[in-house]
Amino acid sequence: MSVTRQIPLSSPWLDEREEELVLEVLRSGRLSLGPTIDRFEELFAEAVDAPFAAAVSSGTAGLHLLCHIAGFGPGDEVITSPVSFVASANAFIFEGATPVFADVDARTLNLDPAAVEAAITPRTRGIVAVDMFGYPCELDELRAIAEKHSLTLIEDSAEALGAQYKGRPIGSHGSSAVFGFYPNKQMTAGEGGVVTTHSEEEHRLLVSLRNQGRDYESGGWFNHARVGFNYRWTDIQAAIGIGQLEKLDRILDLRRAAAERYDELLAGLPEVTTLAADDEDHRRSWFVYVIALDSSINRAHVMEELRGRGVSTAEYVPCVHLQPYMRERYGFAEGLCPVAEDVCARTLALPFHTRIDPDDQQFVVEALTAALA
Ligand SMILES: Cc1ncc(COP(=O)(O)O)c(C=O)c1O
Repeated sequence: MSVTRQIPLSSPWLDEREEELVLEVLRSGRLSLGPTIDRFEELFAEAVDAPFAAAVSSGTAGLHLLCHIAGFGPGDEVITSPVSFVASANAFIFEGATPVFADVDARTLNLDPAAVEAAITPRTRGIVAVDMFGYPCELDELRAIAEKHSLTLIEDSAEALGAQYKGRPIGSHGSSAVFGFYPNKQMTAGEGGVVTTHSEEEHRLLVSLRNQGRDYESGGWFNHARVGFNYRWTDIQAAIGIGQLEKLDRILDLRRAAAERYDELLAGLPEVTTLAADDEDHRRSWFVYVIALDSSINRAHVMEELRGRGVSTAEYVPCVHLQPYMRERYGFAEGLCPVAEDVCARTLALPFHTRIDPDDQQFVVEALTAALA
């Protein structure tokens, strides 16, 4: 069969506005620690209704800084989700803490609060909760558990910019949250991330730690108050980020419309389950369009068939605790998180991005239908 189209999994939406903003920064000569980052942080904090935002070089860097500030270290256990990207766990492994995986809720694919509570031991120090595939985690319940057991709750919202929990944006609820801007995300800057916090003190620490532990308040450029990192972002990236924030509402609307089109197109396929629908408490921000195939279907075969028709897909996502380094280092194996393991073996991300062509979506579903048959 000759392949007539190539449909990518993801694609950023950048236009003349980002070009114009980047040019302004290049011509200004202020490439790092400049006013464009300050402006981006203000706009971002406003967009998610958080009092403070600190831009960093990646979502992973932001998560690491929060784990560092929380003081997680050797001997401590931190509970996180097996249905995530590895960075949610790596962020505290960097600090020497031990990952404990609690199973997810089969509907939301986010941490099941009952499983989190059951995983708590005298060594538990924190929870890194994830808003997976842009669907808000059970923040209130997790926060209550964290308060009851004196744990630090960190929200990995890398996939959830624009999502809402109980009618308010992710980022506005009080726990510190991290967003990421890799090119497959709702908004991108090439790379980058932001930590939102409701604590002025934490914000001050984030600003110092991302910049080699510098402390401007009590000294100058070579005054280092603590051991820090180089997790600085650049003003060039912030310029792209401002262009993306300016059209964030449109991005979110277009992604929602594209997801709804897939929902309709897939409605006739009994072998396919789609992601959890919104409800009163949870409004998804569409990051990826993931489906779960019936357990009778050979996923690798479906992916191969789709690839043959020019349709990119991904096994999105494998369970974190079953990654080779996790098995080797901590001895994790199948059976630890049965709900997560069952779903992760069946999930598939379809091509999805802000400006995906409806004809391409139709083509993807026709190709999937043929592959399933
Ligand atoms: C859930 C989750 N956490 C963390 C990250 C890490 O973000 P970054 O790639 O910006 O370091 C990602 C990005 O893929 C993610 O999806």
